[in-house]
Amino acid sequence: MKPLYYVTTPIFYVNGAPHIGHAYTMIAADVLARFKRLDGYEVYFLTGTDEHGQKVEKAAQDAGLSPQAFTDQISTNFAELAAQMNITHDQFIRTTEARHRVASQAIWNKLQANGHIYLGGYEGWYAIRDEAFYDESELSTNAAGQRVAPTGAPVEFVTEPSYFFRMSAFQEQLIAHIHANPDFIGPVARRNEVLGFLKEPLRDLSISRTSFKWGVPVPGDEAHVMYVWLDALTNYITALGYPDENAELWKFWPADLHLVGKDIIRFHTVYWPTMLMAAGLPVPKRVFAHGWWTVEGEKMSKSVGNVIDPAELAHVFSVDAIRYFLLREITFGSDGDYSRAALIRRLNVELANDLGNLAQRTLSFIAKNAGGVMPVRGKADATLDGFIAALPGQVREAIDRQGFNDALETIWVAIRAGNAYIDQQAPWTLRKTDLVQMEAVLAKLVDLLRVVATLLQPFMPESMAKMLDQLGVSDDARDIATLLVPIASGTVLPPPAGVFPRFVEDAA
Ligand code: MSP
Repeated sequence: MKPLYYVTTPIFYVNGAPHIGHAYTMIAADVLARFKRLDGYEVYFLTGTDEHGQKVEKAAQDAGLSPQAFTDQISTNFAELAAQMNITHDQFIRTTEARHRVASQAIWNKLQANGHIYLGGYEGWYAIRDEAFYDESELSTNAAGQRVAPTGAPVEFVTEPSYFFRMSAFQEQLIAHIHANPDFIGPVARRNEVLGFLKEPLRDLSISRTSFKWGVPVPGDEAHVMYVWLDALTNYITALGYPDENAELWKFWPADLHLVGKDIIRFHTVYWPTMLMAAGLPVPKRVFAHGWWTVEGEKMSKSVGNVIDPAELAHVFSVDAIRYFLLREITFGSDGDYSRAALIRRLNVELANDLGNLAQRTLSFIAKNAGGVMPVRGKADATLDGFIAALPGQVREAIDRQGFNDALETIWVAIRAGNAYIDQQAPWTLRKTDLVQMEAVLAKLVDLLRVVATLLQPFMPESMAKMLDQLGVSDDARDIATLLVPIASGTVLPPPAGVFPRFVEDAA
């Protein structure tokens, strides 16, 4: 039986058009899912849309549509984004589905039966944009004189009856869990942030609202709808069949990884695990928070007009180039800046020059001078052997801690070594002096390219499929285990064609 791996993205609010920040979360999760499949795991990969709450209700009103008609429309945009970015999710969940109402009400009932819900009144600040409650002490006043949350979102004072989740009762258990499981929250800076937050007494969480209707009704008290985050977080188990713990997919719980943005770390590492503890369910194994992208140095916003549409970008540069850039440009976990110039630089230097040239130089030389077949291995210099042997393990180690750019850098060190090796071995000279050695050198380069292309498939699936075709690697020999089976000498290599054209900006 294959080991299991369950990875999720956050579910996206359907209040606006998808942008590059959303694509980022999806792509990172997709690289993990693809890598784990390549490494022999049975993977389940979930994404979807978060469709309830006041923010979505307002966006629907502004668009002059009913909330359901509005969410139907916008949810489709996120499903399309996933297709455009070549995302291989197994399920796309929508929180307006009937089965999700069932699951959300079931977890509510469980919390209630276990004595962790009580009726009270909420009096305090709420930010619709964040769908979050804030304490008076967290607020400040912005330039326009508005009271705002630390995120900059305007807050309003609400007074209404509300059910509460006895979150405070789980504070000690949560702290102990974080200490006992050093990998539970990543990166370390976020773990420290959460532990810092937990130094203060945890308040009980207001989990229902009465001032609007667009949500899952509270079982037994339909004047209330559930707080949108309670409903949203439950999506991760709805998707696996909850409350039916005999469902086929339930074997994937607890999740191996919830991938989230840094803005929603508290919901995933405090609210969600305490809810699960209260419901008697296992908590996820790991939550990792990535950073935020700005665009050409500025925060992305509709009013500035600098929101980058990932589909448009993919149209100009290819999906693979964008997937590569987003995971290469910054350390996963830190913030980063998107700039067109930086994207073009990486595309031209790393993809076209380093990798594209290594493949093109090797394969066209074989086509012209070695009969267009996999050359015969021999006593070539051992420079590249260490890379060929070590790369799979090094990349696995980096991916397992979500170190995407470390994984890519490790691969690029090997690519650069491959280019230096050709220059130094000069097969064009060996062609005149030592044909056996020439073949050995070329075979070594193909062996290196095959490891590189195999490990890069999760990042750039389309272009690496083309490269593996040109390397004569059959479809059933593209995973990590089959790297041990070498390409047989004499295998016909199809005529090579460049995989990464240089990008030249239109003069216009
Ligand atoms: N609906 C909630 C998540 C519920 S999960 C149970 C939500 N949705 S969101 O649409 O606002 O954000 C979805 C994801 O996109 C988050 O992980 C968020 O961090 C990410 N990003 C949104 N803007 C971003 C950038 N500018 N840069 C990087 N990621 C960003 O939160």
